[in-house]
Amino acid sequence: MPDVSSIFLIFASIQPTIVFCFMKQPIKVTEAIFPMPVLLVATYNEDGTIDVMNAAWGTMLDRDRVALNLTETHKTVENIKKRKGFVVHIADAAHVVEADYFGVVSGKTEKDKFAKSGLTATKSSLVDAPVINELPIAMECEFIEYQSDDTGLGVIGKVLQTSVEADKMKDGKVDVEALQAISFDPYTHGYYQVSKRVGEAFKDGLKLKK
Ligand SMILES: Cc1cc2nc3c(=O)[nH]c(=O)nc-3n(C[C@H](O)[C@H](O)[C@H](O)COP(=O)(O)O)c2cc1C
Repeated sequence: MPDVSSIFLIFASIQPTIVFCFMKQPIKVTEAIFPMPVLLVATYNEDGTIDVMNAAWGTMLDRDRVALNLTETHKTVENIKKRKGFVVHIADAAHVVEADYFGVVSGKTEKDKFAKSGLTATKSSLVDAPVINELPIAMECEFIEYQSDDTGLGVIGKVLQTSVEADKMKDGKVDVEALQAISFDPYTHGYYQVSKRVGEAFKDGLKLKK
């Protein structure tokens, strides 16, 4: 059995570690929300060719409404305003290279942007925009408005239909583990795979509800 002085010595030696674990230090990032999605927004150019861009600054505003903070000068925004429609896809781990390519090359300077990705697409039956065949989830959206003022959210769209590859479904619901979606890390500009379920929403917290 250790004596009191050796217990004190052990505690004194681990205490800095405990304090260090709980200490936060300020970091110089403004884009500090993680995880961010990796959304691939597909549109038609004026000549019928396809453009796709990578967008991490996007979210659901409501169950059937998306907000994508897209810079107004992007080719994608030009296309959305003209065609009044776009398709939002969730990028998966199998298409990291293509997803990043769509974020570093503009349809304004590369006319064959989509063709060079090697992916294929089918015209949506609901909106004037393409659905990328190889990606697991597609949301066909009707353009509502572009909010360009200081606090504006960018492109607002109404989701008319969401479709999911059959093998990414389980018991009638999207199987996130099968999806292998990727997320954008704004701290170090990385892509991460999202695949491990660690809890049950609206349920686990009830354990602490007295
Ligand atoms: C990881 C990543 C996330 C991005 N997120 C956004 C975004 O949310 N909004 C935006 O305007 N541009 C974003 N971009 C930049 C556009 O994807 C990029 O400028 C693209 O070339 C625009 O294509 P387009 O001109 O063909 O529409 C992102 C790029 C990367 C690599």
